[in-house]
Amino acid sequence: MTKALEGVRILDFTHVQSGPTCTQLLAWFGADVIKIERPGVGDITRGQLRDVPNADSLYFTMLNHNKRSLTLDTKNKKGREILEELVKICDVMVENFAPGVLDRMGLTWERVQELNPRIILASIKGFGPGPFEDYKVYENIAQCAGGSASTTGFDDGPPTVTGAQIGDSGTGLHLALGIVTALFQREKTGRGQKVLAAMQDGVLNLCRVKLRDQQRLAHGPLKEYPQYPNGKFGDAVPRAGNASGGGQPGWILKCKGWETDPNAYVYFITQAPVWKDICTVIGKPEWITDPNYAKPEARLPHLKDIFATIEEWTKTKTKFEVMDICSEHDIPCGPILSMKEIAEDQALRETGTIVEVDHPERGRYLSVGNPIKLSDSVSEVKRSPLLGEHNEDILRNVLKFDDRTVLEALESGALGAAPSIAAK
Ligand code: COA
Repeated sequence: MTKALEGVRILDFTHVQSGPTCTQLLAWFGADVIKIERPGVGDITRGQLRDVPNADSLYFTMLNHNKRSLTLDTKNKKGREILEELVKICDVMVENFAPGVLDRMGLTWERVQELNPRIILASIKGFGPGPFEDYKVYENIAQCAGGSASTTGFDDGPPTVTGAQIGDSGTGLHLALGIVTALFQREKTGRGQKVLAAMQDGVLNLCRVKLRDQQRLAHGPLKEYPQYPNGKFGDAVPRAGNASGGGQPGWILKCKGWETDPNAYVYFITQAPVWKDICTVIGKPEWITDPNYAKPEARLPHLKDIFATIEEWTKTKTKFEVMDICSEHDIPCGPILSMKEIAEDQALRETGTIVEVDHPERGRYLSVGNPIKLSDSVSEVKRSPLLGEHNEDILRNVLKFDDRTVLEALESGALGAAPSIAAK
């Protein structure tokens, strides 16, 4: 079976998390991703949060599968020449440097287009054009600036960031879509273009329901929020705790064992069409006809009590028992799964969403595989490259350098010290 992006060559100038997420996805779909790294140092994440001494960290290995690594000092004359040769033969160049870095390297958009008018230059920046455009940005800054932190957490607590990396990985996903869209348009125009995904914009896109609620506030209180009916609403969307972001009220409820297990909880949604079943299951058949509970609108002022009553029932069952009983009645609910439970989940392993990968320095480790499944494109997960592992491979087989030119490149110091493992 072929791979969807076979034949697409990517000059991967990304580092840390946001950019590497994007290029890893493209590599899983079959693109040839050549990661440029600083000689001797590499992507800073290789050495961050290390668990195994002298081995690439999980931070790096889990974000750089299926790529080749070329070490190149782009501030060295020869290194810059090699970089430009790569620009000429790649379809896409992806970068997430701080604003201005690429220009200082001499790779302005004008220069890039001069070298290759078909190339797509895809960038992640913290902010789009505006007062903050020159700022450096990391995950949590994006979560704060994109509206996520102000709307996450409980009303009586501080703004809260989420564990999901919506700023980094979320923006990487947005950029990947921008890249394949630009590749599709190039089929018709023959031209490359710039693609920009700003992290603030990406987070805001994922928070659009909160911008929806900001406008609804002008027309009265947000009745599905826990602040209703007794709490106060200000002029900005408040934090809604665990309330559902949609039209069906939901909350996280304790299950059997909650006293000792921090994840013995279930997310329970009081979906209107199955209200009768919910009442029957939890032993409150009188709520089916009681005018204070029978209709969704009538229930809104009592949501707190309703969930407290349902919780009295869920506390008598494990989260999986609650799931089983509810699914028989089509009542939507979901277990709060710990990372340990997810790591051990057989079904996720069978679909390739959780994969075991071998690595020469660190041995076997778990990773998240490609979460997007195509029926006509295989997606294998290959280990991340060692630093500079593919130096010679790329000089010879991608740039088609002859022996003399390879030697010249290696001796110039542009690629740093010779790689420790031969290219495969
Ligand atoms: N050879 C020589 N120099 C290299 C190089 C190479 N192969 N690769 C990078 N460099 C240099 C750059 O030229 C730059 O030098 P300069 O500042 O003298 O021009 C320098 O390395 C640092 O790059 P920078 O991107 O500024 O790294 P940083 O560690 O200072 O900042 C971020 C990191 C993430 C804050 C910043 O890159 C950023 O804001 N990126 C955009 C938003 C983003 O993606 N954030 C999320 C990251 S998960």
